[in-house]
Amino acid sequence: MRRMENRFRKWLHNTVGECVTFDEPLSKHTSFRIGGPADVFFVPETIEQLSDVLKWAFENDIPYMILGGGTNVLFKDSGYAGIVICLIRGFKTIERLETPSDPATVRISAMSGVRTQTLCRYAIENGLGDMNFALGIPGTIGGAIAMNAGTAKGSMQDVLVAINVLDATFELRTIGKTQLRFDYRKLFWSNDEENDGTPSPIIVGGIFELTLDDPDKIRSEAENILKRRKQTQPSEPWNAGCFFKNPVSGKSAGELIDLAGLKGRRVGDAKISERHANFIINEKRASAADILALKDIVQKTVQKMFNVSLEPEVKIVG
Ligand code: EPU
Repeated sequence: MRRMENRFRKWLHNTVGECVTFDEPLSKHTSFRIGGPADVFFVPETIEQLSDVLKWAFENDIPYMILGGGTNVLFKDSGYAGIVICLIRGFKTIERLETPSDPATVRISAMSGVRTQTLCRYAIENGLGDMNFALGIPGTIGGAIAMNAGTAKGSMQDVLVAINVLDATFELRTIGKTQLRFDYRKLFWSNDEENDGTPSPIIVGGIFELTLDDPDKIRSEAENILKRRKQTQPSEPWNAGCFFKNPVSGKSAGELIDLAGLKGRRVGDAKISERHANFIINEKRASAADILALKDIVQKTVQKMFNVSLEPEVKIVG
């Protein structure tokens, strides 16, 4: 594994020293509580710091990746050879913008480091419907936009009107929804397919258009959604949400894994949840290797029994 050269460490230390740690255990920053060390863990306070480091990393061919709340990622035990940039400290503003022409709607800007649940609560408190679909989804707005996070009730693409990004030249830019291409749990960039060496934009926030509605109705709907979530999803906290994407048609991943009799199956401290079969739980000391071995068992069993190929929703890095 490539380790960060001393001259690079020095530059980072001198430029954004208060915002970086070296050889940082990623297990401290993921909901799975799993992951080896990142060469550099960078938590920028400002867009300028973020842009400066991105430009420098790109010029020096140093790998980097963006981490939000760390709730949908599995870092391998070897960690990350490069810079993990965590947008959780300085990118936390929620703002009400000038309302567009329709008086029944309100525009809200939320930066990438805002917790998705914070935005859901803000919406409820301000009598705004439409965000309730996201209740209970862990992580940050940046991660939720990048993943087009959602539930059966909707996804981010339904409420977004634009996103703010640092573009391929690391300048701040707003991209309207009509120029964005969303799919199930994915936001595509134009260079995804061409792979032309240009960096993908970095999402620094979203602009949401939400509808004013009866506050009591919004609140009671929210209570019902959270209650159902509590009943159907595991209470053990060390997991990364649904591990596999649902197949395009037919039974859901959870149902298939359940029907395959895999609830409770374990490798080391990694275990398939007894409550919802599409959750893998780290009971205490599971390694990434344990989780991956369990993932393989699930994929092979479901393939063999139902001829369905399950694709991870959780991003596996390293
Ligand atoms: N089911 C089983 N056994 C299980 C789990 C589920 O038979 O162990 C059945 C349920 O009874 C139901 C069906 O499978 O008939 C679907 O289950 P559920 O309603 O729990 O929804 P899901 O498709 O498994 C999706 C999202 C969740 C989101 C829920 C609720 C995906 C991969 N998952 O789960 O999102 O919370 O809907 O809206 O799209 C996540 O993305 O991390 C996540 C957890």
